[in-house]
Amino acid sequence: MTSTQDAATAAAAPGTFAPAPGDEWWRTAVIYQIYPRSFADSDGDGIGDLPGITARLDSLADLGVDAIWLSPFMVSPQKDAGYDVADYCDVDPIFGTLADFDAMLARAHGLGIRVIVDLVPNHSSDQHTWFQQALASPPGSPERARYIFRDGRGENGDLPPNNWESVFGGPMWDRVTEPDGTPGQWYLHIFDSSQPDFDWTNPEVREQFRGVLRFWLDRGVDGFRIDVAHGLIKKDGLPDYTPPADGDSMGGDDDDVPYWGQPGVHDVWRDWHEVAAEYDGDRALCAEAWLPTPDKTALWVRPDELHQAFNFPYLTTEWDAAPLRTIITESLRAFPAVGAPSTWVLSNHDVIRHASRLALSGESPQGEGIGPLSAAQPIPELGLRRARAASTVMLALPGSAYVYQGEELGLPEAVDIPDSARQDPTWFRTKHEKYGRDGCRVPIPWEASAPAFGFNATGASWLPQPASWAEHARDVESRDPESTLSLYRQLLAERRAHGLGSATFTWLDGFPATVLAFRVDDVTVIANLGDSVVALPEGRILIASEGFTGRELPADTAVWLVAD
Ligand code: NOJ
Repeated sequence: MTSTQDAATAAAAPGTFAPAPGDEWWRTAVIYQIYPRSFADSDGDGIGDLPGITARLDSLADLGVDAIWLSPFMVSPQKDAGYDVADYCDVDPIFGTLADFDAMLARAHGLGIRVIVDLVPNHSSDQHTWFQQALASPPGSPERARYIFRDGRGENGDLPPNNWESVFGGPMWDRVTEPDGTPGQWYLHIFDSSQPDFDWTNPEVREQFRGVLRFWLDRGVDGFRIDVAHGLIKKDGLPDYTPPADGDSMGGDDDDVPYWGQPGVHDVWRDWHEVAAEYDGDRALCAEAWLPTPDKTALWVRPDELHQAFNFPYLTTEWDAAPLRTIITESLRAFPAVGAPSTWVLSNHDVIRHASRLALSGESPQGEGIGPLSAAQPIPELGLRRARAASTVMLALPGSAYVYQGEELGLPEAVDIPDSARQDPTWFRTKHEKYGRDGCRVPIPWEASAPAFGFNATGASWLPQPASWAEHARDVESRDPESTLSLYRQLLAERRAHGLGSATFTWLDGFPATVLAFRVDDVTVIANLGDSVVALPEGRILIASEGFTGRELPADTAVWLVAD
């Protein structure tokens, strides 16, 4: 049989899924998310920076990642940790300079690591020149037309133009004072009031962002992670909308949310696709689009749109074999059906770290975070055990995978951050009702006995590090063959050696319903999500998420098996 016939036969068999064709690097890459504030701090001010990243890149080469994605480091007043950009084409002084960026990029490329930067097109900072010009200009002016300004409702225009609620809590509108001192129009902000939304129906906005893309592509970046890639276009007329009470604030659980996933957004991505295609080297565009199903998410990665879209339906699936089997199946069908890989992810800077999230004592809706008074509290040992098993499953799945800094150390969510130290706008805008995301953003530990666990030399840290993180420090875990770091190193090395990113996937029958069992080319993966042990099939254990003896797989454990 030819390889094409092989692939066709495989695709036809029930429970078998072949990847979409293509050998671009992003189809199979393991991409490590760096959250620059919390990765490594070279100048000791308590906030991580670009020279800090450069100095620590060796450890990522050692881990075996293909690429890094940096959360925003552009000029910003930091009202939303850099997702409020005041100048898209320069580096914020707290992170360094453009020269520091170039040095970081050169070092990464020298190590064979590609670099993706974060671009925030839905909104700017209120300190962006354009927004300042809009405030200084009259209603109806071209300066206002770059953002979404509207007159208010009610007799004196003192009610917001509609009932939309910000993702961070409170109304999605703020009222401005006109240059003549009178109460004026309202502007839309899906997030914080310091993050006004652009009007993407305005050609000037589109042109500005083509320029921003080219600025970074010319510098040599390998791609972009695109913030809120489902939010840019709002429904005509901005009709009132009330989300379902138990809905996820970032994703439309309804079919037609007037500010999420509006069809016009796809034109923007077709345009960006063309800009990226002007450059050599398969520059990649990755969507942050919170959509409820793989089928909907796949619309963002059709052949002429973006290349990757985070598989958030997978991230939000609980640790339970049946729903995981469903979501993996749907993903392996939906993404290749449009020619794309699935882009697996378990943690990032917006969600509770999966070493805590997968074992909570109760419900914790996405985006709310956890803190000392939350009803749901982590069960640490069980959480870590499940996280190791979950990562052992994820890193066997065909497609690309993102790893969030610190998950390779098994870091839990930092729950006991004092109220006075919290910084997430969610915490403030919900009047302390929701803790938000600080707990997954705490600076990561490098050396157990150094100040700030080696994050810097002074011991300063913009969010306090739990004392218990000494045991997770990279130097400690490097020496321990049983550590989570050693597990991740093994997973990445064997994933590469066995070509799992482009493997054909087949579900295996004959296991209890609480087990995930599948083959990816020559590797068999068995994960036990139930309470009782499970007899392993034949094969040598290549990797186990936990140490055990014999052929009975314990609960919350996953293995990779190969033929002897
Ligand atoms: C998604 C980012 O990941 C998040 O951190 C940010 O707060 C919002 N978008 C707004 O930019």
